[in-house]
Amino acid sequence: MKKKATIITYGCAMNVNESAKIKNILQNMGYDMTDDLAESDAVFLNTCTVREGAATQIYGKLGELKPIKEKRGTIIGVTGCFAQEQGEELAKKFKQIDIVMGNQNIGKIPQAMEKLESGDFKHVVFVGDEDELPPRIDADFDSKKTASIPITYGCNNFCTYCIVPYVRGRERSVPMNQILDEVKRFVEKEYREVILLGQNVNSYGNDSEDKEMNFARLLEEICKIEGDFLVRFISPHPRDFTDDVIDVIAANEKIARCLHLPLQSGSSRVLKAMNRGYTKEEYIALAAKIKERVPGAALTADIIVGFPGETEEDFLDTLDVVRTSKFDNAFMFMYSPRKGTKAATMDCQIDQEVKKERLQRLIEVQNEASKELSLAFVGKTEKVFVEGPSKKNKAVLSSRTSTNKIVLFEGESSLEGEFVEVKITDAKTWTLYGELVKN
Ligand code: 5AD
Ligand code: SF4
Repeated sequence: MKKKATIITYGCAMNVNESAKIKNILQNMGYDMTDDLAESDAVFLNTCTVREGAATQIYGKLGELKPIKEKRGTIIGVTGCFAQEQGEELAKKFKQIDIVMGNQNIGKIPQAMEKLESGDFKHVVFVGDEDELPPRIDADFDSKKTASIPITYGCNNFCTYCIVPYVRGRERSVPMNQILDEVKRFVEKEYREVILLGQNVNSYGNDSEDKEMNFARLLEEICKIEGDFLVRFISPHPRDFTDDVIDVIAANEKIARCLHLPLQSGSSRVLKAMNRGYTKEEYIALAAKIKERVPGAALTADIIVGFPGETEEDFLDTLDVVRTSKFDNAFMFMYSPRKGTKAATMDCQIDQEVKKERLQRLIEVQNEASKELSLAFVGKTEKVFVEGPSKKNKAVLSSRTSTNKIVLFEGESSLEGEFVEVKITDAKTWTLYGELVKN
């Protein structure tokens, strides 16, 4: 009988990419993948620590795994940012854990498993090398059409609320040739979407002496690669969103018309306390410039409410930016203090009830904007990328526009993984409905 493994992924797109690498490593070691924990011989939790809730979820899962391990001897590995942050303490606290592995070390999974099998170790911990460029590892993405490539690791920004620079180390860029080779490889294998990943993608190359190694140039070189594919990237930083990057986007249809522009707060005072490096007015001007130079571009944002010291007036500034800059979608969070960050020690931490109330109001304002932008699509014909049958209704296909809006329409399942034209006939806040345009 072949051994079976489960990988559970929490957190961001970088973790999704790293889970695809872990999957490939485990398959090479002879494991088949399963979603059923009860029949797993190995379970890897690929964790996040960016907000408080992530830890609670991981503790819950470890509790669920305990009896399974007792019954079956399942190997339990914890990887990702929470593992990197906690280190060996985690294995000491939870006896069911066999492996604790930081972000940089996933390539050492076979080595860790071998050590465990020798019987000489209670648990194996690899959490070093967080300032190195990790070795290139092949990934097995769940989709044969969407691939992701890390272009930078780590972050140098030290936004005062954020734990990431402490767990993912200093920013380091992957050499441009290596990225271009990867994109070519994916395009040759008929992948249709390539997502470039980094904590701060547009500071790509800042750690290099080579002035030619910058984000605008990287995008330009990627767009020269022949083939029908879309390039997405997450996340850029508004402070580093230079004109040359906007020009390259405007000139290249291969770059998706959906740009993530993390706002975090609309108050210049709070932005300063967050160490974001831009003001409310600068952000609004940048959003307007992008929309003007890249017609039809959709913007999305991350927004935090309840940062220490945020007053009602500060919060109204955030609502004002949301109304003015009009995001297609926003990821909205209540501030949660992370140990070791500057903001966690600031005075005037905001009451949980106030955070909840502000989040609710923010969601309402954002939903209005999302609905208005969705309705504007009705009557238009859009080129969409077909992802496959819709999860809720298998009879219809789910697809996405270049601006990342979901479009549902009736069509043959053979269209999966292709670009097609769809006429939009109806719209709700998050979803568009359409009809396939037959050529
Ligand atoms: N509390 C709440 N949200 C946070 N984020 C990062 N750190 C925190 C925190 N301590 C959010 C930011 C970031 C996104 C990935 O997570 O909005 O852009
Ligand atoms: Fe965190 Fe700021 Fe770096 Fe993003 S840019 S990972 S929010 S420190």
